[in-house]
Formats: sequence, C-alpha cells, structure tokens
Amino acid sequence: MRNIAIFASGTGTNAERIMSYFEAGNTARVRLILCNKSTAGVVERARKHGVECRIFTPAELRETTLVTDWLEEFAIDYVVLAGFLLLLPPAVTDRYGERIVNIHPSLLPKFGGKGMYGDRVHAAVLEAGETRSGITIHHVNGRLDEGAVIFQAETPVLPDDTPETLATRVHELEYAYYPRIIEQEILKMQ
Ligand code: GAR
Repeated sequence: MRNIAIFASGTGTNAERIMSYFEAGNTARVRLILCNKSTAGVVERARKHGVECRIFTPAELRETTLVTDWLEEFAIDYVVLAGFLLLLPPAVTDRYGERIVNIHPSLLPKFGGKGMYGDRVHAAVLEAGETRSGITIHHVNGRLDEGAVIFQAETPVLPDDTPETLATRVHELEYAYYPRIIEQEILKMQ
C-alpha cells in the first residue's frame, strides 16, 4: 500500500475523486492534502474523507523544510498535483522525481505556463478558435506545465461553447482518467 499526498490550491473536485477512487482499492491511499489556502474548497473535502490537511504559505514551501518534513512524517511515496497553482521547489522535485504527476486542462504544450489555469485556459482555447481541447497528465520537472507527457485525452470544441461548458467536458475527462493514470503509474513503481 503506497501513500499519496495531493497538493491542491482550489475547489478540489479532482482531489475528491482521487481520494474516493483509492478508498475503494488496495494500491494506495491518499494520506495527506497539502494546500496553500485555508479557505480553499479542498480543505472541507479532505475533512469529509477523514484525510489530514495541512496548510502552508508560499514562503514556507520555498524557504523552509516544513512541507518536506510533512511528506516524511506521512511516509509519502507518490505526489499528485490537482489544481495546485504554485511551483514545487527542488527540495520536492529532486526527492520525488518521476513520482510526481500533474494534470492540466488543455492539450499541452498548447495553453500552458504562467497564468494558464482553470477557466483562463478554456477562455484562451476559445479565443484562439481551437477545434479540440482536452487534458494532459504529465510528470513534473520544476517548470510550469513542462514535464514529460504521460497521457492525453481530447474533447471537441463546439461552436457554441463558453469557457464554462468547455470546462465541464474537460472536467469529466479529468475525473474519468486522472485516478486511473495515477494508479497505473504507482503500479509501475512496485
Ligand atoms: C483542474 O481543471 C486542473 O486541471 C486545473 O485546475 C483545475 C482544478 O480543479 N489545473 C491547472 O490549471 C494547472 N495549471 P479542481 O480544484 O476542482 O480539481
């Protein structure tokens, strides 16, 4: 049984799907939610699932050993980013290497990088007149949205899409694939 930590900054709908998915199996469990915002929706979702949630500031993440100490305390084997909007410091990326995964709501390398998160991504996709969008699940290398791609899935962009309707379809892809891809990656470790 492997131990997962999820870093999240926002609502936490992906984090919740991942917690539920692993509660039902015996590959791994989500042991820790790490969040840089005490008012984020993910905090309540963690509480509902009985998963420990710890809050830190960007400076604590960058400049202290607080977060790496927690990863140690919970014997974390695998790190998942789910709507986490800060860069992980080398203390985490060096330690976990390929055992860190991120999801991004576009077909990277398109519409990634600084400022590209959540509905901003979908607005940019529509603005650019793209005919397809989707999700990218990738390794994390210390630069935003740039690690090696593990998996992509597509959805068409429809003529009357708004950022919200496109976001809904992209979220459905995230929920369908992210927990399964995480499990596949964890199984490769064993
Ligand atoms: C997700 O759509 C995820 O792909 C995106 O943030 C959303 C978080 O939603 N991540 C990024 O944009 C990373 N650059 P959630 O908090 O409801 O899971």
